[in-house]
Amino acid sequence: MARVNVELKALDRDPEATAARCARLGATDAGVLSQRDTYFPARRGRLKLRVEEGALGGELIAYGRPDHPHPTESNYLIAPVAAPQELVEVLDAALGTAVVVSKRRRLFLWEGVRIHLDEVEGLGNFVEFEAVLPEAGDLATARQKLARLRHELDISDDALVSVGYADLLMDGPQGLLRAASEAMRNAYAPYSKFKVGAAVRGASGAVYAGANVENSAYPQGQCAEASALGAMVAAGESAITAVAVVAERLEHCPPCGGCRQRLSEFGGAELPVYLGRPGSAPQTVTLGELLPGSFGREALTE
Ligand code: THU
Repeated sequence: MARVNVELKALDRDPEATAARCARLGATDAGVLSQRDTYFPARRGRLKLRVEEGALGGELIAYGRPDHPHPTESNYLIAPVAAPQELVEVLDAALGTAVVVSKRRRLFLWEGVRIHLDEVEGLGNFVEFEAVLPEAGDLATARQKLARLRHELDISDDALVSVGYADLLMDGPQGLLRAASEAMRNAYAPYSKFKVGAAVRGASGAVYAGANVENSAYPQGQCAEASALGAMVAAGESAITAVAVVAERLEHCPPCGGCRQRLSEFGGAELPVYLGRPGSAPQTVTLGELLPGSFGREALTE
């Protein structure tokens, strides 16, 4: 079933005041839901499996949406799922998981528009409008309703958010830690049995992951960071904005000396390096702290 929505999302600095404004507008308070969305890498658009607390089944949802802070039309397809947990495991085994978004959503209904007051794990509070067509009227009417709501709830331009929660999470340490952890599962470390995964974010925003690759001739082995940087260079990038390192047998695995030097070729002293595991707050250090007084390419220029 294909549907069209008109949506708007913004940071909510005062969720209590927003809820009070919704009530004053005459919106119906439809209660609180807890939702967990697991995103999988997709060839086109986004693919997520949604599970709601207390519900028996779930929904597999595919959608494509341009990133834009103003009301957007989002086309989506939904398939009901009877065994969502099993499907998460199947898709994760085949595709890997891109990111998990868990939120507590307070739902208000107003003239065919769903108003979501969302508290998102790891991100904070947001308000979201979703005008479902045709319940909210035609496209022009739906847009007018969102403009009115924006005004009533006092949402300023600087609070507007143009990307989804999944993108926001992937931009932070969690997306990099998850990518590093996925790569770690494929590490080739039969000699040390010390599996490592690393992920770097290129200046374009794309994430490149790598694992350590050992060799029976020991010195020929390669660290995870070197593998990730190789993938980035092969994709045509030459600057990084963040790094994550994950090891199977060490909670916080600091990059080895050689890899600090490798990273410094592509990132500055302020480069954040996240050490930890997906799902928990990482230890964050900068490359400058890990490699002070480093030798760099400026030494080679006359
Ligand atoms: N290793 C990495 O992949 N990255 C590091 O920064 C530390 C060490 C790998 C290399 C080797 O395959 C194994 O961990 C044990 O040293």
